[in-house]
Amino acid sequence: MRNLPTFHDPNVLVGLETSDDAAVYKLTDDLAVIQTLDFFTPVVDDPYRFGQVAAANSLSDVYAMGGKPVLALNIVCFPNCLEPEILSEILRGGADKIKEAGAVLLGGHSVEDNEPKYGLSVMGTVHPDAVVANCGAKPGDVLILTKALGTGILNTAMKAELISEEESEAVYQSMATLNAYAAEVMIPLRPHACTDITGFGLLGHALEMARGSDATIILESASLPILPGALNYAGMGIVPAGAYLNAKFAEGNVLWHPDIPENLKDIIADPQTSGGLLISLPESKADELLQELSKAMVTPYAVIGRVVEKQTHFLEIR
Ligand code: CO
Ligand code: CO
Repeated sequence: MRNLPTFHDPNVLVGLETSDDAAVYKLTDDLAVIQTLDFFTPVVDDPYRFGQVAAANSLSDVYAMGGKPVLALNIVCFPNCLEPEILSEILRGGADKIKEAGAVLLGGHSVEDNEPKYGLSVMGTVHPDAVVANCGAKPGDVLILTKALGTGILNTAMKAELISEEESEAVYQSMATLNAYAAEVMIPLRPHACTDITGFGLLGHALEMARGSDATIILESASLPILPGALNYAGMGIVPAGAYLNAKFAEGNVLWHPDIPENLKDIIADPQTSGGLLISLPESKADELLQELSKAMVTPYAVIGRVVEKQTHFLEIR
């Protein structure tokens, strides 16, 4: 993106600079649009489930900005040699999630390709004063994560056919869950910052939040919610390449405490598919958010760290 021309427009509320989840553009004093696009190759074998996960992942960026999804368009790549029923199932899974989100599906575009890929472009709305960016975290905030980690590791173990039925069910349920329910209780509390945990892992997304907020984030590794089996597979070296890239990318900006086991480090760097929201809000509001998350049946959620004044490193992991 670095070689692209820069665009200047006073109505751009969130643009390219802060690696945020989606673009936000102010239309009127009361209304801004959130625009996002995401698609990827299958992470689960079942086409209907893949459609659900891909759609939940695409919708998530709207929730992470404090918005509500309004309309979605399909983005599809599909090989001619596969049964068309597979594609119908993928699209049905996606459409069901769009429906659950209260948005509408109004079309899309497909091209022939060697490997199936699916996702959505989603338009959402938000009040211009209520945009939650990934870079407003303030010293004194606590950090709450609304889904367990380890989807990248478990999806890798699934491809190697190592994963148990229960583990595979748990990772699917987590990835297919909309961040809508967490966002709904977060938005009225006016958090300082939020992002969803996806390809850069908790490590990369927390680092972006700290850097963008010019503060230091301290994560408590013992408090992290982790999907069943993920630590075990990480210990066996079943870790996606993206986790190593994420760790390398963060190098120099992260202070790892020496007693954190390697497999836990892998979980922290693990690229997530349709991960949870990482919410930064004042400590005084944290209890209320935790109570509301519990009432909304968002599980598992956890307080995983806090924000302090900028130290020598943007991220400290204890
Ligand atoms: Co995102
Ligand atoms: Co995204």
